[in-house]
Parts: sequence; C-alpha cells; structure tokens
Amino acid sequence: MKKLIAGNWKMNGSWAETRNLTENILKAIEAESGLADKCDFAIFPPYLYIGVAKEVLTEADSPLVYGAQDCALNGNGAYTGDVSAAMLRDFGCEYVILGHSERRQYHGETDDVVKKKAAMAHAEGLKTIICIGETESERAAGLEKRVVGTQLSGSMPESATIMNTVIAYEPVWAIGTGKTATPADVKDMHGFIREKLQERIEIAKNMRILYGGSMKPGNAAELLATPNVDGGLIGGASLDAGQFLAIAKAA
Ligand code: 13P
Repeated sequence: MKKLIAGNWKMNGSWAETRNLTENILKAIEAESGLADKCDFAIFPPYLYIGVAKEVLTEADSPLVYGAQDCALNGNGAYTGDVSAAMLRDFGCEYVILGHSERRQYHGETDDVVKKKAAMAHAEGLKTIICIGETESERAAGLEKRVVGTQLSGSMPESATIMNTVIAYEPVWAIGTGKTATPADVKDMHGFIREKLQERIEIAKNMRILYGGSMKPGNAAELLATPNVDGGLIGGASLDAGQFLAIAKAA
C-alpha cells in the first residue's frame, strides 16, 4: 500500500509562511524522483490559508493535495462561524481531518459528532482522516484498546469505504510531547485496529491506518516500517519542509 504522508499544520503560520511552506514542500517532492510514486502527500493548513495552498497547487495532477482540519456538522445554513464540507469541496479540498483529539478535548466533540461530520463529508465527496487515540491516564489504566475500539466504531459512518476514509491512530500522550509510542505499542494497536475493522469486512484489509504523535525524521523509518502503519499524520515536523520530506524519504 502506498504510504500517506499528511501534515496537520494546526493553528500555525501566516499567509506568507503558508505560501513558502507549500512551495517548498512541492518543490522538494518534485525534486526527489520516484518519491511521489511511493508516497501520497497531503497538507492541512488552517481554514483561512487553504486558499494560499490552492493558489500554489494549481496543477491538476499535483503530487501534493490539501484539505481542512475540521468541517461543520451541518450543511450550509444559519451556523455562524462554521465551514461546511460542501464549501471545502468547492474550494478544491480533497481531505478533511475529523475527530482530532484537540477537537475532542477543546470543543467537546463526541464520537457521534465525528461520525455525523464524516457522513456529511463523504456525501460531499471529501475523503476523511478520522482520528482516534487514548489519553495517558486511559493507557495507564489499561483501557487503551477499549477506548480506541469504541472511538473507531463510534466515529466511522456507514458511508466509509477504503477510497474515502483513512484512520489515524494518535495516542493523545504522544501528541506534541516528544514522547512517541514504541514500535511495539504501535504494532499492537494498529493490529488491533485492523482486526476491529474486520467488522466491516469489505474495508478491513485495505483501509489505511496512519500513526500520529511526535513523528520526526529520527523515528519515522522505524514507525513507518511497523506492520499496519500505512503512513503518518504529522504535526510539528510538518511545519518544516525539510523534516516533512525526510519523514517521507524514511518511508
Ligand atoms: P505532533 O507531530 O506535533 O506530535 O502532532 C501530531 C498530531 O496531532 C497530528 O495530527
């Protein structure tokens, strides 16, 4: 399976920085022959700067696609401050990240909300990256598989297919902390997720499962070589074109 290397820029950058970073990543992918045959690439700027990425990535067959970090639960209408899946698709987004732990933690998003958003995104033709992952205290209590299993079945809508859905396992305690799950932990959890996907047999084998949480050039090779790790969802290191590309090369 081709690896997906995805950069979640979170709430970072400016107009000028977004332009530079997008251009630098695109140039670096194009300069490295064969890389785009081995990896798919996606970037997720903040809503306001998606248009800047769009301006840079004008080629129809660009090796780098873009998406948003969230979308609204509802279709267009009287929802002040929201951005709909339809608008994202209209803006050329290919993907939307849903259920990131920062959305779950700071905006109270439940599995049910994530599932409804994903169904809406699929109906509009977007691909979704659905994030799941346990907190440190849940892992300490030995509950990580129960939590991840519940999130997985609760957050993935019926409309999910291998074409429109990617799962991202992001242990909350590893996000932005420099603590990475060990390859053994990742192997174990990704194997569990793959097994759990058997409940939907038609998607089980080929649905991509990404790892996210302090992935860096130094640990990427080992993590990306772990069974059932089909790519990375990268935060901090995706804000630097060199590091982002080094992770892809490690794959
Ligand atoms: P870091 O790579 O900064 O730990 O962030 C991971 C993440 O949350 C990606 O969505």
